[in-house]
Amino acid sequence: MPLVSMRQLLDEAAKGGYGVGAFNVNDMEQIQAIMGAAKETNSPVIIQASRGARAFAQDKYLFHLILAAAELNPEIPIAMHQDHGNSFETCKSAIELGYTSVMMDGSLKEDGKTPASFEENVAVTKRVVEFAHERGVTVEGEIGVLGGVEDGHGAGGTGLEHVTDPDQAVEFAELTGVDALAIAIGTSHGAYKFTKKPDGSVLKMDVLIAIHKRLPNTHLVMHGSSSVPKDLQDVINKYGGKLKETWGVPVEEIQLGIRNGVRKINVDTDNRLAMTGAIRKVLWEQPEKFDPRDYMKPAREAMQKVVAQRMTQFGQAGHAGDYKAVSIVEIAKGYKDGSLKTKPLVAAK
Ligand code: 13P
Repeated sequence: MPLVSMRQLLDEAAKGGYGVGAFNVNDMEQIQAIMGAAKETNSPVIIQASRGARAFAQDKYLFHLILAAAELNPEIPIAMHQDHGNSFETCKSAIELGYTSVMMDGSLKEDGKTPASFEENVAVTKRVVEFAHERGVTVEGEIGVLGGVEDGHGAGGTGLEHVTDPDQAVEFAELTGVDALAIAIGTSHGAYKFTKKPDGSVLKMDVLIAIHKRLPNTHLVMHGSSSVPKDLQDVINKYGGKLKETWGVPVEEIQLGIRNGVRKINVDTDNRLAMTGAIRKVLWEQPEKFDPRDYMKPAREAMQKVVAQRMTQFGQAGHAGDYKAVSIVEIAKGYKDGSLKTKPLVAAK
C-alpha cells in the first residue's frame, strides 16, 4: 500500500472506535521493529520523525527507509508524520519530501522552547493547513503546552503549567481547520513524567473529556504517552543503568482517552527504554561481544514486543485490512471542495 494520509487513518480509527500509536523513529532497526509489530498484530500505523530524527538520520535515509517499509508491507496502511514541526519551513520541507502528515507545533515559538501567543499559534498553523491541504497532507496542531523536552524541543516543566483551555481548543480548531489536535493535559515528554502513579490532580483526563464534548469530530492527540513500565526500568538498572524512580501514563488512562476522542497516541520513551535495556543486557552479560548485530537484534526484538503490546492495548490491532488507501490527490480534492472540512471521510462510531 502506498503511504496513506493520516487523516484517512484517523477517520477510520474514529469509525472503529480505536486509537493508533504514533511511534518515533531515528533508524532502520526502529522502523523494522514497528513494522514487525504491525505485521504481527495486523495494525495500521503512524511512523513519525522529529526534527532531531531527521537531522540524525539525514532526511533521505529516513524517508527511503520508510518507503522500504511500505514496499515490503503492502497490506499495512502507514502514515508518515513530521513530529513537532517548529515552523512553516520545517513542515513545508517534510511535505515536499513526501510525508503524508505534519504536526505544526505552534504552541511554542520557532526556537521550540518559548510558549507562543494564541494569535501566533493560529497564524502559523493556519498557514501550514493551507499549504498542506492543497497537497492532500494532514495537519496536527497543538493548543496548550506539553511539559518536558524531547530532542531539544519543549518548554520544560511539569506539563501542568499550560494545560489546554477547552474554550481555546474550540476556537483554535475552528480558526485553523486542523485535522487533529494535540492537547496538554499534564503529560510531558521523556521518562520523568510523574513522581508517583498519576491521579486526576496531575493527569487531567477531565480536561480531555471536556474538550471532546465540545469538539466531538476532532481527532485528539495524546503526546508524552509512554507508560514507562517498571519492568523496562528494572532491566536498565539491573545492567548498570541509573534511572531514577518514575511513572508514566497508565495504559488504562490512555484507553479512557480513546473512549473520549483520542485517535493518535505518541510513544517514544518506552521504545527507547526497551532497546537500551536489551543492549545493556548483552554488553553486561557478554562483554566480549563487539558485533553490533549481537545487541541490535535483541534491541529490535525488545522494541517490537513493546509496540505490539501497545497496538493491542490501543485497539488498532486487527484493523490493517479494513480499508484501501485513498490517494493524496483525492484527499486534496476533499479539502478543496470543503467536504473534508466539515465531515470525516467515514462516519465516526
Ligand atoms: P514519550 O516521551 O512519552 O514517549 O512521548 C513521545 C511524544 O509525545 C513524541 O511527540
